[in-house]
Amino acid sequence: MIVIMLGAPASGKGTQSVIVAQRLKVPHISTGDIFRWNIANNTAVGEEAKKYIDKGILVPDELTIRILKERIEKEDCERGFVLDGFPRTINQQQSLDRMLTECNKSINMAINLSVTDDEVIRRISGRRMCKCGKAYHIVTYPPKTPGICDLCNGELYTRKDDTVEVANTRLEAYKLQTEPILAVYRERGIVVDIDGHKPQEQVAEDVWKEILKYSEKHGWM
Ligand code: AP5
Ligand code: MG
Repeated sequence: MIVIMLGAPASGKGTQSVIVAQRLKVPHISTGDIFRWNIANNTAVGEEAKKYIDKGILVPDELTIRILKERIEKEDCERGFVLDGFPRTINQQQSLDRMLTECNKSINMAINLSVTDDEVIRRISGRRMCKCGKAYHIVTYPPKTPGICDLCNGELYTRKDDTVEVANTRLEAYKLQTEPILAVYRERGIVVDIDGHKPQEQVAEDVWKEILKYSEKHGWM
């Protein structure tokens, strides 16, 4: 099963993708996480991506599509995957279609998490991340021990692009470059809209209900 998680910055894509991927037993692939791993490990990809990420603008398609292609060609993606943060431009969307067509696959569902701009800024201002991928919020979803991850005891950090100024640029990039993808997927009838304002657990249940509905309809799982 191939599921795309769409939504504005901080709409909860990462939080929900991890849960869906665990439930479906497929990998969770976040292009943002791949770039951040490369930045932390001082690779050439990281050095290039950092120039854009720190400013809140999209990394050029050529590089992004290349790293995504390399990742989905790995064996663990054979049964499907959950994509978080890709595609983000019409060019990426069309490339993904071509890659999937080549191996007789297609996107099953695109989950659209909707949140208001004010909520995006509120979430970004209080987010703390762990290297293991778990996201916290200092007010709404604080860790049990301040600064320490509940899951792996890792030290929490603030993403460099989590400032109000950069968040506004990210939001703008989302509206201009990413939102048009929704119209393409809507035309295909694969979009499911989910209210991203509800508590995380409720959003997870709403998403899962939609996946089960899809599975029943298509005799899958
Ligand atoms: P990326 O890492 O994808 O960032 P993003 O899209 O801006 O999204 P976030 O990771 O900020 O938020 P999220 O939706 O995952 O929310 P989360 O679950 O963490 O991309 C970063 C950068 O990399 C881009 O700006 C770009 O430069 C580059 N990039 C990546 N992919 C690219 C591509 N395809 N093409 C080009 N460039 C690319 O939750 C957010 C917060 O809210 C947390 O604090 C969480 O605890 C809280 N929260 C979650 N759910 C809820 C809830 N239901 N209620 C209340 N709070 C909640
Ligand atoms: Mg994320």
